[in-house]
Parts: sequence; C-alpha cells; structure tokens
Amino acid sequence: MDKQEQDKLKQKAAEKAASLVENGTKLGVGTGSTVAFLIDELGKRKDQEGLDLDAVVTTSSRSKKQLESCGFKVSELAEVDHLDLTIDGADRFASNFDGIKGGGGALTLEKNVAVNSERNMWIVDESKLVDQLGDFPLPVEVLPISCEQNFRLFKEDGLKPQWRMNGEKRFVTHYGNYIIDLNIDPIPDPYGLADYLDKVVGVVEHGLFLEVCDEVIIAHSNCQIEDRKKQ
Ligand code: 5RP
Repeated sequence: MDKQEQDKLKQKAAEKAASLVENGTKLGVGTGSTVAFLIDELGKRKDQEGLDLDAVVTTSSRSKKQLESCGFKVSELAEVDHLDLTIDGADRFASNFDGIKGGGGALTLEKNVAVNSERNMWIVDESKLVDQLGDFPLPVEVLPISCEQNFRLFKEDGLKPQWRMNGEKRFVTHYGNYIIDLNIDPIPDPYGLADYLDKVVGVVEHGLFLEVCDEVIIAHSNCQIEDRKKQ
C-alpha cells in the first residue's frame, strides 16, 4: 500500500471515529498522522454542528496546537477527574486487541491518558493489523541516568536494541528521556516481555499496550470501515 492510499484509509477511519463522539464527552486525543485527520474532523463538527466537549486532553504538543487551532480548550491530564473516551492511533494491532504504540515517541503520555480513560478507541488502516505482535520496533522510554546500562542489558538479553535517533543525535522525548527500540519479531510472549520491562529500573514506559483497547475502527483497502468492539 503506498502512502497516499494509506493516508486515505487513515482519514476514513478518523472520520468514522469523529462521527461517534458525543456532546458532553471528556475526550482524550492521541498523537500521529491518523489522529491529525481526527482532529480536523472534530474541528469540522465543532464549526458545523457546535460539537461541545466537556474536556479535551491530549498526548503531544503537536495535537494540542492543532486542537487549539480548531477552537478546543485543551486541559492537562492532571486537571480532569476522568476521561470518558480516548481516541488514538496505533502502530500494530493484534486480533486479541493488544497493540504496539509509540512510533511517534509519545508512548508515556499516551499510556497515562489511556489508562485514565473509561474507553479506548483506536483508529487504524488495514496495514497495522497483525496476527501476533511484532513487525514493528517496540519503543522503550528510558531515563538518561541509566540508559547505557539499560541498552547493555537489552543487548545481553537478545532484544536487539537500537537507539531512536533524530538525525545525528538521540531522539529526546517530551520528558527529556531517550527511546530504545527493540527489534523482536514476532514477540513470542508480549505479557512476559511487558512484565520484564516493567521491572527494569530506568525504564519509564514501553510501547506494549496490553488490554488497553476496547474498540477499533479499521479502514480496509476494499473501502469497508469496520467498527470492531472487544467482547
Ligand atoms: C505515537 C503513536 C501513534 O499513534 C502511532 O505511531 C500511529 O501513528 P500514525 O497514525 O501516524 O500511523 O503511538 O506515539
């Protein structure tokens, strides 16, 4: 699938998700190119039908800027008591509703917003679907103070680590940390790996989003838009 076709599908999934947002929702809005289409659609609904959200929280400065330019007031996560619904993209989505996120480097805020949301809806194009997680570098956000030790440990444990780069320099997250991408494909035991990563001192967060997603909107290349809910 070429980028143009993929963008068309991302837009279709975003349009469908935006149409499902109700007035009065406390809404979490994620990060990425699919979410950028979502924000455009929410902005259109605000202009055309006065879509009125009770609160909006987002996971990146880019999404915040776009939401504000559409006239939405954006709150910090700490300012809201809860979120009703969060809509976000994903890098990979497995049939059991687990996923990999963090391709854009915003995984820590994305996971924090997601776990404080009653429902999580992901918007993806068909290319993100996999039977088993993998097929995408797994981002791990690490503190600078122990990042070299973390990298060595991951290497010794056969997790094929690679520094996320931004040109010549290491990519720096919103929180001033680094990202180590693990190249494991497929990931034989995502729950075991999440458990391992949760216990490594210096790991801030990782991109395994397990038992987070409740509903996914999938734009298929045959133009079908599927709304799949977790049973
Ligand atoms: C950013 C993310 C994004 O949701 C994910 O990378 C999908 O991005 P896109 O919609 O651009 O394909 O997790 O950290």
